[in-house]
Amino acid sequence: MNIAVLGAQWGDEGKGKIVDLLTPHFSIVARYQGGHNAGHTVYVGGRKFVLRLIPSGILHPGTVCVIGNGVVLDPQALFAEIGQLEQVGVEVGDRIVISNRAHLILPYHRELDVFAETQRGERKIGTTSRGIGPAYEDKIGRRGIRVGDLGDPSPVVPLADVVRQNVEARNHLLHDSHLDWHVVLDQLLAAWERLRPWVRDVSAFLAEARRDGRAVLYEGAQGTMLDIDHGTYPYVTSSNGTVGGVCTGLGVGPGAIDGVLGVAKAYTTRVGDGPMPTELTDAVGERLRAAGNEFGAVTGRPRRCGWYDAVVVRYAARVNGLSALALTKLDVLDGFEAIRVCTAYRIGDRTVHDFPAELGLVSRAEPVYETLPGWARTAGVRRYEDLPVEARRYIARLEEVTGAPAGIVSTGSDRDDVIVRRESCVGAWLGK
Ligand code: IMP
Repeated sequence: MNIAVLGAQWGDEGKGKIVDLLTPHFSIVARYQGGHNAGHTVYVGGRKFVLRLIPSGILHPGTVCVIGNGVVLDPQALFAEIGQLEQVGVEVGDRIVISNRAHLILPYHRELDVFAETQRGERKIGTTSRGIGPAYEDKIGRRGIRVGDLGDPSPVVPLADVVRQNVEARNHLLHDSHLDWHVVLDQLLAAWERLRPWVRDVSAFLAEARRDGRAVLYEGAQGTMLDIDHGTYPYVTSSNGTVGGVCTGLGVGPGAIDGVLGVAKAYTTRVGDGPMPTELTDAVGERLRAAGNEFGAVTGRPRRCGWYDAVVVRYAARVNGLSALALTKLDVLDGFEAIRVCTAYRIGDRTVHDFPAELGLVSRAEPVYETLPGWARTAGVRRYEDLPVEARRYIARLEEVTGAPAGIVSTGSDRDDVIVRRESCVGAWLGK
């Protein structure tokens, strides 16, 4: 089985933990989009790991981690992450494979990211300032530099020319930028010496792996509502975190995806700007933030919090053809007397069940809530039948209104605080 795991909300759904849980059943974990804007948090034995670029599968010895062509790669960020992993005894060695077609994030991309945000003023997106958007802009604008270009022995356009042209153009745009293209070129060539052993044609590598019967887990970053096409544009990231990104971002056909697992929190969060219909700016929102420790893994920004938005997750189920959901952080709702679920939006005098494309409509959407009874404690529960009846009723209602079965329920931050429902397709994937 080859399975995609991706976000069904605005990112930060807990994909890192779910990928970590599933990894022992796969020999390869492959990232297909995004860059080091992602922050996948995993707790192992009480120790916290935040992975930004390298798939969470790296924490399992023997697992090969792939960085696909759909990812934008900052070599310095990669080296820093490898250094951090090695410091805590996680050997990377030859367990990473990097696409020769992945585009590079260069120093001026970070500057341009910050510059573009300043230009947007009040309509800023709230990016992670990692240079992600400008790197994808250069890719689509056909002036990007790919990993493989660094080692191209007979380039049509020499690397030095491309770097010089790009840096000069950026210096012109950013009046106070005086970046020296020679320095950028030297850094790139030095990075190539380190990257070279890991660089391959990822599509060919994955085809060979499939022929050898090795199972692949496709790891999405961000979430459906941050997808450049299907998210709350323009308040999105610059790549396709939805399932289509697996094919374009790794060079595999749709037949190479046997199942799609959407990850959703038992409530909703969002970091950065843009509309979020169930956002709570009151004490309840505060309580969710504190209980869920809702602060950005990359930037430390407080996340906006609100009740579960079934309109969003239902939309994610459709856009991605979700086979099942992994419902995370159920324990954060412990102790609430009543819990609300948004099942539709009220926009003007209409009740809307499908997530609208138009930002104006989303901004005016008033959640239509259903209220369910709360429960005392689910934290650390590891068997479905041990959950309080109200929690099981809550999950059943989410399944009904979202249209996707909850194959996994997570009840705490540790690796083992999790329930895999044997009767679901996830149980079958894992041979339970
Ligand atoms: P960018 O990806 O840095 O361009 O940021 C664009 C938007 O996506 C901003 O609202 C970010 O906060 C958001 N974003 C990017 N990566 C993540 C993530 O991993 N989790 C949650 N939000 C993210």
